[in-house]
Amino acid sequence: MNKQKKISLKSKEGKLGVLLPGMGAVATTFIAGVIAINKKIGKPYGSITQMGTIRLGKRTEKNFPLIKDFISLVEPAQMVFGGWDIFPDNAYETALKASVLEKSLLDNIKDELVSINPWKGVFFPEYVKRLNGTYIKSASTKWDYANLLREDIQKFREEHKLDRIVAIWCGSTEIYLEPEEVHQSLESFEKGLKNNHPSISASMIYAYACLKEKVSFANGAPNLTVDIPAMWELAKKNRIPISGKDFKTGQTLVKTIIAPGLKARMLGIRGWFSTNILGNRDGEVLDDADSFKTKEVSKLGVLEYILQPKLYPELYRELCHVVKINYYPPRGDNKEGWDNIDIFGWLGYPMQIKIDFLCRDSILAAPIVLDLAIFMDLAQRAGFYGIQEWLSFYFKSPMHLPALYPEHDVFIQLMKLKNTLRFLGGEDPITHMGLDYYDYYDLKE
Ligand SMILES: NC(=O)c1ccc[n+]([C@@H]2O[C@H](COP(=O)([O-])OP(=O)(O)OC[C@H]3O[C@@H](n4cnc5c(N)ncnc54)[C@H](O)[C@@H]3O)[C@@H](O)[C@H]2O)c1
Repeated sequence: MNKQKKISLKSKEGKLGVLLPGMGAVATTFIAGVIAINKKIGKPYGSITQMGTIRLGKRTEKNFPLIKDFISLVEPAQMVFGGWDIFPDNAYETALKASVLEKSLLDNIKDELVSINPWKGVFFPEYVKRLNGTYIKSASTKWDYANLLREDIQKFREEHKLDRIVAIWCGSTEIYLEPEEVHQSLESFEKGLKNNHPSISASMIYAYACLKEKVSFANGAPNLTVDIPAMWELAKKNRIPISGKDFKTGQTLVKTIIAPGLKARMLGIRGWFSTNILGNRDGEVLDDADSFKTKEVSKLGVLEYILQPKLYPELYRELCHVVKINYYPPRGDNKEGWDNIDIFGWLGYPMQIKIDFLCRDSILAAPIVLDLAIFMDLAQRAGFYGIQEWLSFYFKSPMHLPALYPEHDVFIQLMKLKNTLRFLGGEDPITHMGLDYYDYYDLKE
């Protein structure tokens, strides 16, 4: 069979700057983890770029290399970390306070962590009402703030002699915003920056600064940030990849694993009640109704797209989907997520599924940050720009072109990701049809 044309990838050599706007629990768990992995005192469990394999060719060929052996990917040891926060703690202090990783591990890599100090952040309290940032830049317009962020990026690039940079938003969830006129074009957005338009949030200013500096941008929170036409236009103009929104980690990961299975069996669902207790700073921010609304919209969309109630009205039209998050400090980062799923089967007989997921939020998020840093870099090296739909796998609300609906089914998302890697490596996509192994038709070449 003819192989695909191999895409020419820019070299992976050199140093990759990884910028983290928001250096809290997720960001420091990621940084500490990468340092520990580089020192061989930790393993990158949960990371596809580090542990995943990819089947190439037919099953009879038995060719399953590691993804990182199949396609050239930047290595964790090539990464240099930088970022911003609205509190001045260094990465060691933040990681200690976050209490995700054990002190003994953090002490082992203390020198490296202490040397990572955030730069002052851009912060507007009306967008994150539960935080009172003390370590913030001052400027008179949002345009000036963007320029200050650009200067930080330029200094970072020069100081560390970086070859490429990617940014991953790990900052707090902002209040809910709908796209407005000011977000519709680059011209109106830039005008809004100069006029201090109230609908331009801090995360949008970071994203704008990054795209202007040719830094690709992935959004780990549900904020609009890069998911507005103005940013799509800038990403296209500067040929920079963008992706988002909202890391798919705990309860939503489980939901996108279970729901496609139930639908595949044509089992009906009457109700899906999801509730969480969470006690970290993210939980505190999400305790504010306006920030929670952003998260709620992100979490609720998942089932609608997986179950397709318009195609299967008898099975899913009546579905009642409720999601709650309760801030409960004793649990810290160790979230507990309960799901009660009311399903029905043959002749309408009801059944229930109960899930109690005792998870660790940042432990689930950190490998996603690593994979996104590596794959966003790959995208840029491959000449991809704009929305990176092939990275939907990592997000609760995958960004997509307006004419398309988002793909939420985690198994389709994984196939999309792996087929994109096959495409980049000059291999044929795999359809999993398998008829060509049998003799009914003459499909063998
Ligand atoms: N942990 C998960 O499983 C998970 C899953 C999906 C999404 N997320 C999202 O990832 C983000 C990070 O989560 P976390 O648990 O690390 O939260 P966190 O509260 O520990 O960290 C967020 C950090 O962002 C900082 N920050 C807030 N506004 C800022 C600004 N304007 N500029 C710079 N820094 C700013 C805060 O001071 C804080 O240190 C949140 O938005 C969260 O909703 C996390």
